[in-house]
Amino acid sequence: MRTIVKAVAGALLASTAMVAGASAQTKEVQMLHWWTSGGEAAALNVLKQDLAKEGYGWKDVPVAGGGGDAAMTALKAMVAAGNYPTASQMLGYTVLDYAAAGVMGDLTETAKKEGWDKSVPAPLQKFAVYKGKWVAAPVNVHSVNWLWINKAVMDKIGGTQPKTFDEFIALLDKAKAAGVIPLALGGQNWQEATMFDSIVLSTGGPEFYKKAMNDLDESALKSDTMKKSFDNLAKLKPYVDPNFSGRDWNLATAMVIKGDALVQVMGDWAKGEFVAAKKQPGTDYLCYRFPGTDGSVIYNSDMFGMFNVPADRKAAQVALATATLSKSFQSAFNVVKGSVPARTDVPDTDFDACGKKGIADLKAANEKGTLFGSLAQGYGAPPAVANAYKDVVTKFVHDQIKTSDEAVKQLVAAINDAK
Ligand code: GAL
Repeated sequence: MRTIVKAVAGALLASTAMVAGASAQTKEVQMLHWWTSGGEAAALNVLKQDLAKEGYGWKDVPVAGGGGDAAMTALKAMVAAGNYPTASQMLGYTVLDYAAAGVMGDLTETAKKEGWDKSVPAPLQKFAVYKGKWVAAPVNVHSVNWLWINKAVMDKIGGTQPKTFDEFIALLDKAKAAGVIPLALGGQNWQEATMFDSIVLSTGGPEFYKKAMNDLDESALKSDTMKKSFDNLAKLKPYVDPNFSGRDWNLATAMVIKGDALVQVMGDWAKGEFVAAKKQPGTDYLCYRFPGTDGSVIYNSDMFGMFNVPADRKAAQVALATATLSKSFQSAFNVVKGSVPARTDVPDTDFDACGKKGIADLKAANEKGTLFGSLAQGYGAPPAVANAYKDVVTKFVHDQIKTSDEAVKQLVAAINDAK
């Protein structure tokens, strides 16, 4: 809560222009989000259309920037100005922060009527419900430990599914030898950290991931296994093209779609780009779990955090929440977005092979206790800790931290500081 209040003050000046003119009408939903790529915008259209059918207009507040850091800065400014959107896209601990700050609305009545308690899995309820009140509507479940591979390039180099980290390196070597960019990476802190989530799970296994990345156990954070995780991250660097710094995630996905690169390590929002480009899994591209992470799922879930809007805007908010968690929307939206439903009772009929796998993997991991929050994506720890993590990982990738030893030291210090 303190973090939010402090940041609110800082962000205020920067976004005054955006806030002005953003006042909302009663018959419209004002939504802040960072869904500006082709696949993301297509998914959001599903919602706009559903609401239009109910007679509600759409006031878009898009703030570009994958991972949502820029959007969250803009949101702070709006909230500080008392100008609440009907809802905002949010990730995990951020929802809880705003709820603790007392600015969220209460959707419990809608939730009861619609039976959310029974259909939304417990790990999501932990973030959508604050002190017994529903404050957010979960839209989806994404997972980050995926590889997205161009099938034609894979065939050309005679590659097969890598099952271990070493096999992954061998595959990247094959691409390099064939003159293809092996690894499409966007050199932005959140993308690098999202990839590192998978590397930590692959290097240390499920128990280690949980200890380090969700429990923030200091002995795990400073262990040799964490050092080895940084070593593995370093091993991937030679396979990235020289222009990777600052590249947007969807441009990295486009490199794979076009066959300019073999593979991207990214959350399954990348699949939304393949869908938008009319590409088929199995024929045009392949989705594999990050090598060595089969059986575990590192997840994040986009939530629509519901603000405490004035009474005359409440009906629009209830309509939004009801539409968001309807079974038909959960299927239609997530088919386009690349994610899987945030309810457990949505049939997988309309999903492609990667989506079906995503749904099955999520269910199995939830039952087995191998479903873990993504630290890079707001589900491992509160935002201050996640930011500290992203900062250390990106410094390591961009050679501002030179050794794995130093990276581990800085990670422990930064996380301790942020806690
Ligand atoms: C994630 C979000 C996804 C996707 C991605 C890239 O944080 O959960 O829905 O939008 O950012 O923008």
